Amino acid sequence: MTEQQFIPKAYSNTVESGKVTWESPSNIALVKYWGKKKDQIPENPSISFTLNNCKTITTLTFSKKENASDFEFDVFLEGEKKDDFKPKIQTFFERVELYLPFLRYYKFKIETKNTFPHSSGIASSASGMSALALCLMSVEKQLIQADAALSTVERSLDENYFNQKASFLARLGSGSACRSMEGDLIIWGQTDAIEGSSDLFGVKYPYQVHENFKGYQDTILLVDKGEKLVSSTVGHNLMYNHPYAKNRFQQAHDNLEKLKSILESGDLNAFIALIEGEALTLHAMMMTSMPYFILMKPNTLTIINKIWEFRQKTGLHISFTLDAGANVHVLYPKKESFKILEFIKNELVAYCQNGHYICDQIGFGAKQLTM
Ligand code: DP6
Repeated sequence: MTEQQFIPKAYSNTVESGKVTWESPSNIALVKYWGKKKDQIPENPSISFTLNNCKTITTLTFSKKENASDFEFDVFLEGEKKDDFKPKIQTFFERVELYLPFLRYYKFKIETKNTFPHSSGIASSASGMSALALCLMSVEKQLIQADAALSTVERSLDENYFNQKASFLARLGSGSACRSMEGDLIIWGQTDAIEGSSDLFGVKYPYQVHENFKGYQDTILLVDKGEKLVSSTVGHNLMYNHPYAKNRFQQAHDNLEKLKSILESGDLNAFIALIEGEALTLHAMMMTSMPYFILMKPNTLTIINKIWEFRQKTGLHISFTLDAGANVHVLYPKKESFKILEFIKNELVAYCQNGHYICDQIGFGAKQLTM
């Protein structure tokens, strides 16, 4: 598989205007992506659970221009014009132009909203970039289908290719976004442990998964809803010349290999040890880069300690993972959810900013809402 396969045959931009809407979820990594090479190629493979409730809904309206010119688009969040979102989308358009040659021929209106509060400290880049990539793929699909110069075979865009290219494009917007197209477990990054894995796009986890992991729960504790102090992009770059980078990248490969047998056997204790180790390693990389930084807050640590105490006391399989921020994702099996959710509400929510938290669970990917 190479980038070349995503460069389309010329099409004649015959569609005058249109509108498409997609909703796409966020995802939570179990083995973390931290460190990338040129062109958004990850330094190591990662795997995530796709979420179900934390989503972005994006409507893309497009109309043909007289002539090809600079990119023209406006962005709205919840109906409000957001010019500060434009530079990120401009960069995204520049990166994907080669693969979506219609971009300069159309004017776009991007209307987006999230099911979670924008200022929740939950990264909307995965759900946002994946929703936008899917909308753009729907435009391409319409252009291809309307192009009489193409053969019937060329005009039928296979679903697998559609998803793969959407994931490929989303990756160029934000790495983790390429893991949001489908569910419930997605791998991104080439590794010998997983057949079919690729650095270019996310793929569905192809092996057997034990019942224990079906419907896995993720309760997101919003410890700090502020803007992130250090963006992921800056964080990734600090893995260049990081003294532990080489070992860390190797560890991610090893952890994926281990996770494969854990997912098959359903060994929850081994699962917990692996994902908590991954979360703390991610933060250890941040604390040992130069410049170093700490994204956990005192309440993050209090919550982690309380989770450990409760697990010790009850034998229930509660665990946590972290993103590049202070919020805690509490992960647990569906069949233990009654007792664990009680504990979360009684003991952990007090450490969330304004008592805010989000109940989510494993989901199955993006959906097209209108043509
Ligand atoms: C800690 O995907 O946000 O969440 O590619 O620069 O947009 P960019 O980074 P981003 O990084 C996410 C890092 C992470 C771990 C993960 O999701 O695997």
